[in-house]
Amino acid sequence: MNLKETLLAIVRQTLEEAPPQTLFRPEDEAAILKVKDVALQAKEEMVKGFYDTLFSHPKTAQVFREGERPAREKTLEGWIERTFSGPIDEEYWLLEAATGVMHLSRGVTFAQGGVMFSWIGEQVARRASSSFSPEDVLAFSLAWSKLTALILGVTQAAAGFAMMQAIGQGSGLEPALVQRLAAQGMSELVEGWRASLR
Ligand code: HEM
Repeated sequence: MNLKETLLAIVRQTLEEAPPQTLFRPEDEAAILKVKDVALQAKEEMVKGFYDTLFSHPKTAQVFREGERPAREKTLEGWIERTFSGPIDEEYWLLEAATGVMHLSRGVTFAQGGVMFSWIGEQVARRASSSFSPEDVLAFSLAWSKLTALILGVTQAAAGFAMMQAIGQGSGLEPALVQRLAAQGMSELVEGWRASLR
């Protein structure tokens, strides 16, 4: 399997692990696409607000390199266009998993990514509420929570794979062995935590 096939297999497995009735469905995609014009009209304003927020806080500002902001604004614009145009298909999940791992490798945390997803969702929901029904805004917000929970989920799965590969390369151990050792070590560790936290 090449890298793309491997990541696709990880994405598929992650999506299969969740109960199907809870997954992102065509009606969720429709709820997001319904407010597309609102999101695209507010794109530039949102991109500016997004990076103003990240640059106003030292712990997020420190992630960026000198002069990087214009490039990041362009990639976020592209992300908004892609997400609000669809399709939310396997290629989308794959792209999100890879992008998520790129973020982690730059030191962006899940918490930082997660809150900024919520930030974008809130910006769109607030603007949509002046021209859409409360039902449409609710449907969008629920779909957005699912979408972003799954983006974090596929990112976590792809990051686990990347970490095992990296430890394997650094240590000379087979990644599958690293994974077994990590899983075994974790259950022992957690037993210890149970004992000390109760
Ligand atoms: C809603 C959450 C976010 C979205 C949708 C988003 C979107 C993106 C996209 C599409 C890219 C380009 C990836 C590529 O090269 O293909 C990117 C890169 C990047 N983002 Fe974000 N981002 C988010 C949150 C954040 C946060 C919270 C930070 C920092 C605290 C951040 C910092 C970066 C950095 C440093 C890169 C460059 C990664 C690299 O190629 O080295 N992003 N982002």
